[in-house]
Amino acid sequence: MLPIDATSVRLFLHVLAATVWIGGQIVLGALVPTLRSLGVDAPRLAARQFGRLAWTAFVLLVVTGFWNLAEYDGKHRSGFAATISLKLVCVVLSGVAAYIHTRAKSRTWLALGGAGASGFALLALFLGVVLSQ
Ligand code: HEM
Repeated sequence: MLPIDATSVRLFLHVLAATVWIGGQIVLGALVPTLRSLGVDAPRLAARQFGRLAWTAFVLLVVTGFWNLAEYDGKHRSGFAATISLKLVCVVLSGVAAYIHTRAKSRTWLALGGAGASGFALLALFLGVVLSQ
């Protein structure tokens, strides 16, 4: 068995939180037509319940993200500053878009917020994989 240490736990928690924040948004989006067929309020109620879990995952992502940053040994690599900066911009935009989505009163803002929340999160996910290479 390979050794299990604090790095394994740190990356496990970071990736687990990413799967909930991003995977949950994708799955909930795919279930919207089915939820609509159950009742007009069903998508909103499901989204509200998912929101509690999703924001917990987002906080865990940020906490473990800064933990990653503190332990990261590739800070001297060329391109590191640009990659982590872009990733942080995507993380902030994903959070802001998700907040706009939850507060939206019109269909336009609902759609823009939802697309931004998952689009920017996917970019952050991709840049996370680039950082770990
Ligand atoms: C939407 C938010 C985020 C997503 C989806 C995300 C996703 C990921 C993923 C999938 C990895 C690869 C993990 C692996 O090697 O197995 C990663 C690595 C990393 N993330 Fe994030 N992350 C997010 C937020 C953050 C934040 C806020 C920070 C910094 C404050 C951060 C810093 C890092 C660093 C430094 C690594 C490289 C870790 C290493 O290889 O040692 N992440 N991220």
